[in-house]
Amino acid sequence: MVPRTASPHPSDPTDPSDPSGSPRPQGRSRPRASFDAVVVGGGVIGLVTAWRAAGRGLRTAVVDPAPGGGAARVAAGMLAAVTELHHGEEPLLGLGLASAARWADFAAELAEAAGAGVGYRACGTLAAALDADDRAELRELHALQRRCGLETEWLTGRECRQLEPMLAPGVRGGLRVDGDHQADPRLLTAALLTACERAGVAFHRAWAREVTVARGRATGVALDDGTGLAAGLTVLAGGCHSGRLGGLPPEVAVPVRPVKGQVLRLRITRPYAPFLSRTVRAVVRGGHVYLVPRESGELVVGATSEERGLDTTVTAGGVYQLLRDAHELVPGITELPLVETRAGLRPATPDNAPLLGPTALPGLHLATGHHRNGVLLAPVTGDVLAVSLTTGELPDHARPFAADRFARSGWEVPA
Ligand code: GLY
Repeated sequence: MVPRTASPHPSDPTDPSDPSGSPRPQGRSRPRASFDAVVVGGGVIGLVTAWRAAGRGLRTAVVDPAPGGGAARVAAGMLAAVTELHHGEEPLLGLGLASAARWADFAAELAEAAGAGVGYRACGTLAAALDADDRAELRELHALQRRCGLETEWLTGRECRQLEPMLAPGVRGGLRVDGDHQADPRLLTAALLTACERAGVAFHRAWAREVTVARGRATGVALDDGTGLAAGLTVLAGGCHSGRLGGLPPEVAVPVRPVKGQVLRLRITRPYAPFLSRTVRAVVRGGHVYLVPRESGELVVGATSEERGLDTTVTAGGVYQLLRDAHELVPGITELPLVETRAGLRPATPDNAPLLGPTALPGLHLATGHHRNGVLLAPVTGDVLAVSLTTGELPDHARPFAADRFARSGWEVPA
């Protein structure tokens, strides 16, 4: 898309394209288009941020060489605030539940704006255990859920199989979690792209090279093609690449690293449909696997969790591990066509929670670090960023996820 040219934001005294003598940015490029907000990154989080910003009346641009890509191209789309609860991550539960509660309305609003659905399915989740150790692990999760005030139901193996007859006879027990649903991340991304376009968001299909800074304030971004964009507000939403952008001053910490996830896509063919009625996840001899059945007939099987930097190779070992565990849980999957194998990169932070809102550099906001929860947290992230971009403040429920929390703690990039 051709960049649209707009007049400088009248309320931005540091607009670097201002011919009246305001200082130029510290980058090499001279900005030629100007916006109220420029969002670096066109994945789900960048797009939902841009859509909500445009909805608040901000003239908004997204910078991404291939908008609609990112981790959501690979993700399964589980809205798993409860089944993905982990010890030590109780604060994240609150944000996850807040977002889960928004999902039905968000899906309807977005479908209306885009003229296309996002595959939201209020189908619930069953978490199963294969052997006695797996059952003990799931019992621990159940106890943690109860301590957090969550109502989930323990089922015997027989009760699990009554819910999902394709489960292996060896399943020892499970947890019925009726509030953990799913959406289709590829439909979600496509809908957000359309909604952004319809809301007037401009797309710049280029890499952002650096944040530009003038008089101690972010003033937009310089692009790899030598051009630049001026903006009073800059949002970094580049997933696991967010910390790599040039021009970030030392007081801005963006501690995001890639965590690789390999994911398979199978097709549920006619004699086997419906196969599973809900998302099924399991602890299988200490490993973790999930199966997400879509109304379209797609069955997503995921995911590995690997610390391998920016590597997105699909390996025989990864595919073997997923198929082995999925087969132990649901033996019938061996009949289904395997149609896709892919690896994505989750943007993880030191506490596994996202970085939201203003940073120590005025004008620079973060919307990144969503790790395993980008699709779940999309609605609440859009709302939080809409508030932070228009008021400079975070709503109360987002304060534990303040973008500057690691900078305040003196966190440094590990050597
Ligand atoms: N939330 C699922 C995953 O990250 O694999």
